[in-house]
Formats: sequence, C-alpha cells, structure tokens
Amino acid sequence: MTGRIPDSFIQDLLARSDIVEIIGTRVELKRAGKELKGLSPFTHEKSPSFFVSPAKQMFFDFSSGKNGNAIGFLMEYDRLSFVEAVEELAGRLGLEIPREGGFSQRLVLDGPLDALAAAERYWREQLKQAPAAVAYLKKRGVNGETAKTFGLGYAPESWDALTRMFPDPKHALEAGLLIEREGREGAYDRFRNRIMFPIRDTRGRVIGFGGRTLGNDPAKYLNSPETPLFHKGRNLYGLYEAKQAAKSALPYLIVVEGYMDVVMLAQHGVREAVATLGTATTAEHLHLLFKQTNKVVFSFDGDRAGRSAAWRALEQALPEVHGVRECRFLFLPDGHDPDSLVQEIGAEAFRALVDGALPLTAFLLQELEKQVDLNSLEGRAKLAALAQPHLAKLKEGPLRSLLTEELARRTRLSAAQVERLAAPAAHPASDSAAAARPASSRADPAARLPRRALRILLEAPALARQAQHLEQLAASPAPGAAALAEAIEFFQEHPDYKASQLLQSWQGSPKGAALARLAAEPLDIDGPALGNEFRESLRRLRERAVRAEMEKLVGPGRSLSLAEQQELIGLQHQLSELKTV
Ligand code: UTP
Ligand code: MN
Repeated sequence: MTGRIPDSFIQDLLARSDIVEIIGTRVELKRAGKELKGLSPFTHEKSPSFFVSPAKQMFFDFSSGKNGNAIGFLMEYDRLSFVEAVEELAGRLGLEIPREGGFSQRLVLDGPLDALAAAERYWREQLKQAPAAVAYLKKRGVNGETAKTFGLGYAPESWDALTRMFPDPKHALEAGLLIEREGREGAYDRFRNRIMFPIRDTRGRVIGFGGRTLGNDPAKYLNSPETPLFHKGRNLYGLYEAKQAAKSALPYLIVVEGYMDVVMLAQHGVREAVATLGTATTAEHLHLLFKQTNKVVFSFDGDRAGRSAAWRALEQALPEVHGVRECRFLFLPDGHDPDSLVQEIGAEAFRALVDGALPLTAFLLQELEKQVDLNSLEGRAKLAALAQPHLAKLKEGPLRSLLTEELARRTRLSAAQVERLAAPAAHPASDSAAAARPASSRADPAARLPRRALRILLEAPALARQAQHLEQLAASPAPGAAALAEAIEFFQEHPDYKASQLLQSWQGSPKGAALARLAAEPLDIDGPALGNEFRESLRRLRERAVRAEMEKLVGPGRSLSLAEQQELIGLQHQLSELKTV
C-alpha cells in the first residue's frame, strides 16, 4: 500500500494555506466584520449565509449545514477525495507530498484508477469467453449493444484470475478489487463468478463495481468497498451513461434501486435512469442529481419497505427543491421492479407512469395524514405539528408558500399560524451574520461551560498559553471538560495553529464533528472579554473538579486515613484559592 500522508504535513499545508484565498477564487466574498460572507456555493440561496473566518481558517455554510477547513471545502466544492484535496493544496504551494515509510514520492491517484480500468477491460474480455454468462444476459434480455454501453463484464469463477493480472497488487488492493490474505502474503479476487457492472464517476472514470452472482451465492450483489475513490453515498450508477446519452440537458432523472433496472430501462430507450448503490438516498445524491437536471423522479416498490425508503429520500430532497426544481415519487405495481415493468409495458407506458408520478408535497401530505384523524381538532393540530419540521426544511419560495396554504386549508389554521410554526427552526429573517446562525447549543446545561470555553478558545487559541492544571480540568465531571483540556494542550503544543488545524486533528471522530458544529456557533463577545470569560470558565470547571474529588473522599460512612486527611486539607486549600482568584 502507498504510505500514509503524515499528519504533520497536512497540518503544515493548512498552516501555509489561506482559506480566504482558496474560497475567494471560487465564491464571491464580501467583508462582514471579522469574517467574509457570500452566497452558499452548495445551495441556491438568495441571501448570503455562507461565512469564511480568517481567524479560524474555517468556512461555515448555514444554508447547507456544511462547515470545515480548506481541505473540507475543496472536498465539498471541487468534489475531491481527501487525498486529491491535499494534492491540490500542495500543488498550489509547490510542495511535494511526503509518504510515511521514509521515501518521498509524488502521489499518483492514477494507481488505483489504472487498476480499475484494467479490471474493467479484463472482465469485458472474459465475458466474450464465457458462454454461460452471455446466456444469462440474453435470458434477462440484455443485448450486446447495451452490454457494451455499460461496459458489462464477467468475473470468472476463480480465486486469482484477476489477482494474476497484477504483479504488484498494491493499487488493486487500494481500489477494492482484491482482498489481502489473512496472516500471509498475497491477495485474492473479491469478485468471482459474477456479472460485473462498472460504476463511473461523472467524468466517466471507473471508480468501483457491482457484481451479480451467477451461482447461488447468498450475496446476490456484491459491491466494491468504500475506498478513497469510491463512496456509495456520493455516486450514482448510470449517471455518466445517462449524461452521455442525452444530447442536451436531461429533462429528468429517474432514480431506481438496481443495476439491472438502469440497464434494462436504457435498453428500452429510457436512458435517464440512475441507481443508488445499495444504500439509502443521501443528501449528496440529491445534490449530484440536481446538478444535472431540474426534475428528479424516485421510483420505489409500492410496498412498505419501498414507501419508507421513499420517505428517506423525501427528507433529503426537501432542502433541495426550490426554484424550478421538482421531485416526484413513482410507486411501482406489486411484484414489479423497473426492469420487469418496462419489459412488460414498454418504454412509452413507463414514461407515462413517470409523468404521472406523485409530487413530493402530495406524498408528504399523504404520509402525514395517515397518522392523524382530520375529523378531530386534535388530529388537525397533530397534522400541523407533524408537518412543521418538513415545512421548515423547504427553502423560502413559492412551493413553501403553497404548501403552507394547503396545510392551512387542511388543518383550518390560518396560513400565518402554520408559517409561524415552521419559521423558527431554520429560516433566519435577516441576513446579518449573527441572525443567520442557528441558536446557540441546546445541549445539556452541565456541558455549557466547557463548550463555551472551547468556543472561545477556537476564536483565540493563544489563550491556551495561560491555562494550567489541565489534568484537573480533564477530570472535571462536566461533559466536554476532557475535550476542552485536550484542545488546550493541542494549542499549547502548537502555538501557531488555528481552529482549522484542531479540526483536522480531530477529523473523522464524533469529537471532530461536534467541534465543527461548535465553531459555527456565534460568539457574542470580543476583545479582552474573551480572555476574562475563558479564565473564569476554567476556574469554575476546576472548582467542580476539586469538589468532586472532595466528595469522593468524604463519602457517607467513610473514615479517612492520615494520607486522605492530608489530601482533603490540600483540596480545601485549593478550593479557597480558586474562590479568591
Ligand atoms: P434487488 O434484490 O431488487 O435486485 O436489489 P435486482 O436489481 O432486482 O436484481 P436482479 O433483478 O435479481 O438481478 C436492488 C439493488 O440492491 C443492491 C444492488 O445495488 C441491487 O441492484 N443489492 C441487492 C446489494 O447491494 N446486495 C444484494 O445482495 C442485493
Ligand atoms: Mn430485478
């Protein structure tokens, strides 16, 4: 495997890069106090709620909820993998990326990409020599042309057919094509005796595969594992092929569940279908879809599982449907998937079903009304309450107004009352920096003090220098005190670092996610007040830690040893000192 990029190099890159410069070339930013603001590049908002903080070296997008450092921005905005984003930053600075393991080499992501392309070629070749596989595709109705369009292949029933293609398995392992043998040298084929469906990114590069068994393997479909190149939640099967087939803009995209559904629809001339890769629909899927088209039609089974999957898709779609965008739901007749249905009724009838699919708001109201009795006041009140979080996710605009009115009609509340229910959650009225931000944490009150102190520290990391007694702080019973102590230690060790770098160091852990959210919270103080409140918070946290230790010593029915008595006196002394500070 290629060596890891050392954390110290990544931290160094962040220290030398300026997030304002990086974002400034991609998004128009204006000064707003200590920060810069602009229109969110991730949504289509009309009033700016996207902020870049030079002090924290982070961005905060209140309309999509995304935030992070320069690497996170490049990953989101340029749709890069982590390694590609690091490459981009290093390239700007003319730095070579060192790899752990001593040697320094320019990172070539083309390694795994080359392995994937080689596997695609190999499996396509194998298909020609596998009569059973060809017969299977014929039986399912796939013709040669369709197989070629989608690059279908066949992975032979062998443990090492593909492995033997790679004298050095490094890149193929990284691409998830091979699996490392446990406890000994070597690797073996992940995909065996399967029809192979190459999965491409929007640029057409093969980034992973799905494979359907031809035997009776209990895993009917096997997908590539998540790799730095391949994320199931961020890619859609068939999207590249759909874009290629469309002569101009795509009128719509149909989202189905299976590889075979996409292939079979295309074969019948419905070339606008894409499939999720065996996962629930994500916000990133919606994002990707609406980059290509203004109309997304989800097709699901009509059964309970299908409706609940559709509901998850609806929840992801709500923030995305605004302006000319539209989202619909097509529930298929019992026992059918798009594959079987289009074979039975043909493309034209299938397109008619797509045209008549249920609009998002109709599906929303249907599902909510199933849960209430509209003949009672209670039922109508409950409908308003159930609708509230969904309404709040919709962007301000005609659709939200119309749904508000419709809810008013059904609940017999006034539109203003319905609107008021939905208002506070997500839609700030003013576009000023403070107002655009969500209310401060509603976290558990005991956690408030450490959170607040950490929030201040992110603003002014130099305050870490003054902090002492970190062990005691870490032992404070308040949740978050240990994380605060860890953050202080981090900034003591790296006096020049900023919030973006602590975030980098905590990346990938729940702690990191919480930190990013915390950094986005507004801070109502500035200047010397920062230091004063920080010191006061630490003092109170230490006081709590001391009290907790004392309570442990003088628990009910305990007699103290001489040493414990001395300890207690010491603690009492500390406490009185803490109080007089
Ligand atoms: P289905 O079981 O509905 O498969 O799974 P299908 O496409 O109708 O399969 P055929 O028609 O029998 O060939 C739908 C999708 O769910 C994922 C795959 O992405 C599949 O296309 N899946 C299914 C898996 O990832 N693993 C499985 O074992 C089954
Ligand atoms: Mn099927």
